[in-house]
Amino acid sequence: MLAKIEELLHEVESMTAANAEELEALRIKYLSKKGAVNALMADFRNVPAEQKKEVGMKLNQLKNLAQERIAALKEAFDNQDTDTEGLDLTRTAYPIGLGTRHPLSIVKNEIIDIFGRMGFTIAEGPEVEDDMHVFTMLNFAADHPARDMQDTFFVESNAEDVTKNIILRTHTSSVQARTMEKTQPPIRVICPGRVYRNEAISYRAHCFFHQIEGLYVDKNVSFTDLKQVLLQFAQEMFGPQTKIRLRPSYFPFTEPSAEMDISCHICGGEGCPFCKHTGWVEILGCGMVDPAVLDACGIDSKIYSGYAFGLGVERITNLKYKVKDLRMFSENDTRFLKEFESAY
Ligand code: DAH
Repeated sequence: MLAKIEELLHEVESMTAANAEELEALRIKYLSKKGAVNALMADFRNVPAEQKKEVGMKLNQLKNLAQERIAALKEAFDNQDTDTEGLDLTRTAYPIGLGTRHPLSIVKNEIIDIFGRMGFTIAEGPEVEDDMHVFTMLNFAADHPARDMQDTFFVESNAEDVTKNIILRTHTSSVQARTMEKTQPPIRVICPGRVYRNEAISYRAHCFFHQIEGLYVDKNVSFTDLKQVLLQFAQEMFGPQTKIRLRPSYFPFTEPSAEMDISCHICGGEGCPFCKHTGWVEILGCGMVDPAVLDACGIDSKIYSGYAFGLGVERITNLKYKVKDLRMFSENDTRFLKEFESAY
């Protein structure tokens, strides 16, 4: 009987099953009522008394091993995903759709690069700002009508003293004030960022948009320097054939002030519907920093002078990519966004 048990132990040790039916057959063979283990149990009473202990232990070992092996095989089947039809392990992986940069980021990065090559570094400031940095230090007196030109969103408004208002910045010129306040010249910075105005949303206006402010303050900075830097920018951005034109304008923080047009890059200045047949399109505001602004920011206007300019990133992007509707930039329609692939 011992030899028979040893033989079965070996068998059970190495048993395998290819599927659930085979496994059930094994269970029946060894562990069912009429199975091999039970048959041996029935024979046990015929074992001579002096061998009972040894045979009993072996028999128990066989029973336990058979139960363990069958349970282990069953578990392996249960964990297997049996639904393998149509599974092709040699198929290449699904392609991962890489996103593209937002058109406004592409253009912003390009502008930063162009001015970076001319020695401008980046300065940043908060979007929730105080009235002092957005208006007062930039020469907008408390009752200055130019405050109404920019439809302001108020976070905290103070009826008695407007200079205590907390607002969403309406232009990145606020970063000029912040930079001059904490740094003495030479200053040469550009300030990219988001700005907010309380405007009805349409294809040509939005309640938030993006600007880049430029500021250069040093000894003997002149209007000629401003013109040269802006010409360089326009030609790098829109091509070497681009011409610029400066028209007198008004901003409280610059004197003199100007608006800059570039020759229409669609018709080359001939006149077309895009430039309303003028041959020119407006791209930015600029001027010499008003001495009153330098003084308000702690820079001695008798020693230093400076120029500033401010441009709209949406405006430049519209011109460059001919996007007619501003709202496209914030709708996150991937069919639109996928059109822009670039190294920037
Ligand atoms: N802050 C002006 C605006 O939002 C743009 C601007 C004009 C900025 C002239 C300047 C500047 O620095 O010199 O409309």
